[in-house]
Amino acid sequence: MVKICGIGAGYVGGPTMAVIALKCPSIEVAVVDISHSRISAWNSDQLPIYEPGLEEVVKECRGKNLLFSTDVEKHVSEAEIVFLSVNTPTKARGLGAGKAADLTYWESAARMIADVSQSNKIIVEKSTVPVRTAEAIEKILAHNSKGINYQILSNPEFLSEGTAIQDLLNPDRVLIGGKESPEGQKAIQALKDIYAQWVQEDKIITTNLWSAELSKLADNAFLAQRISSINAMSALCEATGAEVSQVSLALSKNTKIGSKFLNASVGFGGSCFQKDILNLVYICEGNGLSEVANYWKQVINVNDYQKNRFVKRVISSMFNTVSGKKIAVLGFAFKKDTSDTRKTPAIDVCKGLLGDEARLSIYDPRVTEDQIQRDLSTNNVEWDHPIHLHPLNPTMVKQVSIVRDAYEATKDAHGICILTEWDEFKTLDYQKIYDDMQKPAFIFDGRNILNVGKLREIGFIVYSIGKPL
Ligand code: NAD
Ligand code: UGA
Repeated sequence: MVKICGIGAGYVGGPTMAVIALKCPSIEVAVVDISHSRISAWNSDQLPIYEPGLEEVVKECRGKNLLFSTDVEKHVSEAEIVFLSVNTPTKARGLGAGKAADLTYWESAARMIADVSQSNKIIVEKSTVPVRTAEAIEKILAHNSKGINYQILSNPEFLSEGTAIQDLLNPDRVLIGGKESPEGQKAIQALKDIYAQWVQEDKIITTNLWSAELSKLADNAFLAQRISSINAMSALCEATGAEVSQVSLALSKNTKIGSKFLNASVGFGGSCFQKDILNLVYICEGNGLSEVANYWKQVINVNDYQKNRFVKRVISSMFNTVSGKKIAVLGFAFKKDTSDTRKTPAIDVCKGLLGDEARLSIYDPRVTEDQIQRDLSTNNVEWDHPIHLHPLNPTMVKQVSIVRDAYEATKDAHGICILTEWDEFKTLDYQKIYDDMQKPAFIFDGRNILNVGKLREIGFIVYSIGKPL
């Protein structure tokens, strides 16, 4: 059996390696991580991440050709192909803090590969990394090579959380970057052979290393830019009486634009968009391209503006203060169908409301109480623009309760903020909710999922993104 090893058992490494195991029964897949708690969760009935369909895939393969282990060295040394899916967060300190990618985990994984390897290996970059990172990893490996030959490939991952398994089973494309040398081409072919087990060959694109690395950053920057573009339009809609959903529909029918990523929202979140754009900005600045850097920074500026605008709208609508008022927050995850809260807009919105001394009652169907408390009591790493939200003080967190039901969250509340588009929020009994709330009862729909007309008939005062009040 061919042996492959995935380093990093997170949102990317776990699902990606599990799908390879599912689709390639003749490959033995070991997923390793330095986190003992994560690995024991992967080996239990309570997987460390929630993804629709993931549990079924893991149950099907675990114990056959898929294993999760903390014995990083053993599995790396035995593998012919090593996939690196470690985290590459924004640097919190030192040179480039707030923008550059922190490659600490990346570098330590590369050094460990160099230490334990005894045979030739293909190293696959799955993590999102700055363009030309393959050169750095090659240096680390080459200077400790003991005569071993390493081929580095860039194979960025394009899955979205919440649809990871579907995205992996049926990707738009698989991108593989490698060297043009015969050894490089051989390595590309070996990786292609794996994907070809379930992905149509014409969807597998091969490029040089730097194009593959940069394409991943460009991909996320383009997606985030669409959201900031429609969110910028939503502010103009509110000012002019246009409706953003109607503008989105009109745009979406233009085949040159297309229909995806045109939903106006309280702002984009997730662990990658902001981090990857800042990474791109840092690379542009390092190359003396300040105009290009400023162009991409604007995508993040608009995202922050959108979150601040939402907070201000809540406070100003509720007679310019939410002090002492109970606000129900429905949804905390950065999007539906995930328990992930990394960079969720809910953190900034909640902190903004707490800054005006609101009392928050938060309900999310998948996010744990501990996670919400941790998110609200941690101060964000700031990048280089002024933050308009109020600074956090420890007493604010006492104003937060986390409940396990939307009806409990909204009981006696003065206002409701919808911050994640969970399907269950669309079918709540809003008449009952209205009856149990303080009057006037406000709803601020940060995801535009509710039927505004019906809510107004019940008696709510409704604000949706990009729609007239
Ligand atoms: P994550 O934090 O969920 O997982 C990373 C894992 O790597 C952690 O469990 C950590 O313990 C482990 N790790 C760190 N250093 C290690 C080492 N030296 N040896 C073994 N394990 C180590 O991160 P993620 O969300 O899976 O993202 C991983 C990478 O994939 C990032 O570069 C990210 O930008 C990229 N990416 C993420 C997504 C997504 O949807 N989350 C999608 C595409 C690409
Ligand atoms: C995103 C990309 O879509 C993936 O292609 C990429 O692989 C991944 O980042 C990554 O590199 O990590 P993800 O962050 O998981 O995936 O989720 P998205 O569906 O892109 O949503 C990101 C944020 O944008 C969410 O907060 C979502 O609510 C918001 N969004 C999305 C909008 O506000 N409007 C939209 O129209 C679409």
